[in-house]
Amino acid sequence: MNMIKRMFGTALLLGMFFAGCGEAGKPEEKAVDKATATPGIAETDWGTADGKPVKLYTLTNVNGTTVKITNYGGIITSWVTKDKAGNMGNVVMGFDSLASYQKASPYFGAIIGRYGNRIGKGTFAIDGTTYKLAANDGPNHLHGGPKGFDKVVWDAQPDTTGGNTSLILTYLSKDGEEGYPGNLKVKVVYTLNDGDGLVMEYSAETDKPTVVNLTNHSYFNLSGDVGNTILNHQLQVNADKYTPVDATLIPTGNMVDVTGTPFDFRTPFKIGDRIANVEGGYDHNFVLDRHSTGMELVATLYDTISGRQLEVITTEPGLQFYSGNFLNGSLKTPEGKTIVKHGALCLETQHFPDSPNKPDFPTTLLKPGEKYSTQTIYKITVRL
Ligand code: GLA
Repeated sequence: MNMIKRMFGTALLLGMFFAGCGEAGKPEEKAVDKATATPGIAETDWGTADGKPVKLYTLTNVNGTTVKITNYGGIITSWVTKDKAGNMGNVVMGFDSLASYQKASPYFGAIIGRYGNRIGKGTFAIDGTTYKLAANDGPNHLHGGPKGFDKVVWDAQPDTTGGNTSLILTYLSKDGEEGYPGNLKVKVVYTLNDGDGLVMEYSAETDKPTVVNLTNHSYFNLSGDVGNTILNHQLQVNADKYTPVDATLIPTGNMVDVTGTPFDFRTPFKIGDRIANVEGGYDHNFVLDRHSTGMELVATLYDTISGRQLEVITTEPGLQFYSGNFLNGSLKTPEGKTIVKHGALCLETQHFPDSPNKPDFPTTLLKPGEKYSTQTIYKITVRL
């Protein structure tokens, strides 16, 4: 195991820490106990895929929070953090071997691309040319296709310069890969900061017009115990509207007011309170009520059992709230616990599903010379 330690000056350790990249721009004061954690990045071999080495990286911050990420699919495999009693627990679904991910994973923790979420009938057109993608979710194309960015080996570079605890992942998606046009150079930087935020910076460039919608597919259960479902978690989402879907989960194209519906999370609601009124459970895109093009706090998830809360801060216009409806007890955690229906949930920051076929939705078109650039922070703390 190769330990790359972050170097801290005493002044930094005793001083102020910024909780997130420009997140409201506010410094947070924090007492730091040097004894509790060895901040930095550790790297370990994790097998091979497509003839390339796969590694597992452990990012640790001053609070002792650890996030494990593999360069296979850019997958976050675990996120261990304190609850209100100070006990550490894993708050995301994941496995402890590469083979488990290769065998069957419902996108646990992965980077999703080239197009996160669905494209209706797997078809779209750019400048009069029609592109046909694989239908891997009923009649539709889902999460970039059968071998999306969640199943490729990314080039990985730990970055500990300037006090960072970052992992830089890059991937070249070749012209025609999974049916998409253009060579797409993709970069995803994960940074674990000392405010317990995991910052995700996505960027991409293309040499032909294409569509791009990158996200992360972490499944959270803030209780740290899949024995508790997420039906007791409270969710708040800043969205006045959502995009209703047809029977195959493709948006109808309308943006509907959430008032008086089970989609009204403008004030916090327990997920289990109204889920019975949503056919199939929640698997919907929320139209975020944004006030700028910058980073904004758009959703908060809270678990009373552990006291943990997750804040979602993003530049994206949409949020897919997926309540783990397809989890069916066939998968187990590394500790052998069964992951049941609603055992975990996803809050996927994104552009809207099927945008390439919905002219009224914010565009996902990327042209040569343009830079795709989005950012999301998942921040997990204990509510006091
Ligand atoms: C997304 C989709 C869901 C489901 C999961 C993976 O969140 O919206 O319908 O496909 O991914 O199981």
